[in-house]
Amino acid sequence: MKVVIVGTGYVGLVTGACLAEVGTSVVCVDVDAAKIARLQKGLLPIYEPGLPEIVMRNQQSGGLSFTTSLASALPGAEVVFIAVGTPPGEDGSADLQYVLQVAHEVGQHMDHYLLVVTKSTVPVGTAARVNRAIKESLSARQRIIEYDVASNPEFLKEGAAVNDFLKPDRIVAGVNTTHAREVLEQLYRPFVLNGHPLLFMDVASAEMTKYAANAMLATRISYMNDMANVCTLVGADINQVRKGIGSDPRIGKHFLYPGIGYGGSCFPKDVKALIRTGREYGYQLRILEAVEAVNEDQKQLLADKVIRHFDGNISGRSFAIWGLSFKPNTDDMREAPSLILIERLLAAGAQVRVYDPVAMEEALPLLGNSVTFADDMYAAATDADAILLVTEWNAFRMPDWQRLKGLLQSPVLFDGRNIYDDVHLVKQGFTYYGIGNTA
Ligand code: UGA
Repeated sequence: MKVVIVGTGYVGLVTGACLAEVGTSVVCVDVDAAKIARLQKGLLPIYEPGLPEIVMRNQQSGGLSFTTSLASALPGAEVVFIAVGTPPGEDGSADLQYVLQVAHEVGQHMDHYLLVVTKSTVPVGTAARVNRAIKESLSARQRIIEYDVASNPEFLKEGAAVNDFLKPDRIVAGVNTTHAREVLEQLYRPFVLNGHPLLFMDVASAEMTKYAANAMLATRISYMNDMANVCTLVGADINQVRKGIGSDPRIGKHFLYPGIGYGGSCFPKDVKALIRTGREYGYQLRILEAVEAVNEDQKQLLADKVIRHFDGNISGRSFAIWGLSFKPNTDDMREAPSLILIERLLAAGAQVRVYDPVAMEEALPLLGNSVTFADDMYAAATDADAILLVTEWNAFRMPDWQRLKGLLQSPVLFDGRNIYDDVHLVKQGFTYYGIGNTA
């Protein structure tokens, strides 16, 4: 089967590469000529473990190719995935202009039956708008060509995207016709052979599933951050509480880690967009409004703790920031809590030295020369008044504490992800602050 994927961002590129990996013939299309030229040379626009190898292998075997021309990609294709960006508009709603533009273009160039599938995260009702856009373009050409529109939201996590795609927990597909169902069944057969479900449903439910899943996960995080903050006040330890509640299978142990707020390109945007959808239909999603408010406050927590430790004045002090990306195993800086933290420290007159194993190139245009980019975690800590652990990269998990003690002005550590053992650190002579377990 031949498939065209429009949009070579996270979702499009991973989808294209992984479909090619199981023998589907894939053409990836993007309007960004520079990006396509780089991809043709095997250079990826994102950092994602395992992806370069798959792209390279399938490009060499001819199963995966890249072009800027949708028109030239369509002949012989059976499925077109729309995986272009849906950035948040000023009012929090998802901006669908790129999705609809692609739909129009498909209608302008298609010559035979196509299954057009929305893969970008899009609000309920988008598939219907995509349908209308294709119809409009076809009528402008005075052509009648059969097509279906389906919704197939993506659930991959950055940093684990290849594995998530190849071994999905489930695949959700919203379809209107038996034919669309059969095409997707055939396409996804290699991924569900080992018992992972391919869930067919109506289109609106598929669109809604994506938002409901991300909003539920964001809710868990804000809930745990709220609990962590209460733990601090009452003298309890959120790490113990987390284990205690996570052993109840109804709650489950995953995704219960408090921290310095969720970031990334998905949760903040999707929670906002769902609140907005609710409002459009006259419904106030009060839980999600609280989830968002808690998250905004949580992004300030580490800076609050630092300022409190230094008696309200950090002017002239110097801090080491370990980790910049919104989470480990990605260079993605979108909505990264590190940016808010650094802004606060700088505004209070502090100096900041940062180190991230992968994201420094992405962070450079955002931070410019307001901070110093260090060569490694120890260089960042040299002469600093404290270390602030922001992103839980594995490289930060077992530092040489005695070496750090010698480098720091004062051995103080603010652990924004609770990855260190507080008892061990205190024994090593450090003052330790975590989330939800110390004052
Ligand atoms: C998220 C979802 O997990 C994916 O299922 C979904 O497909 C994706 O959004 C999307 O919509 O495309 P992602 O944003 O890559 O994936 O990252 P997550 O691993 O979910 O982490 C999101 C944020 O939550 C990070 O800032 C992370 O640090 C934070 N988090 C996560 C916590 O604070 N605590 C946790 O226990 C888990």
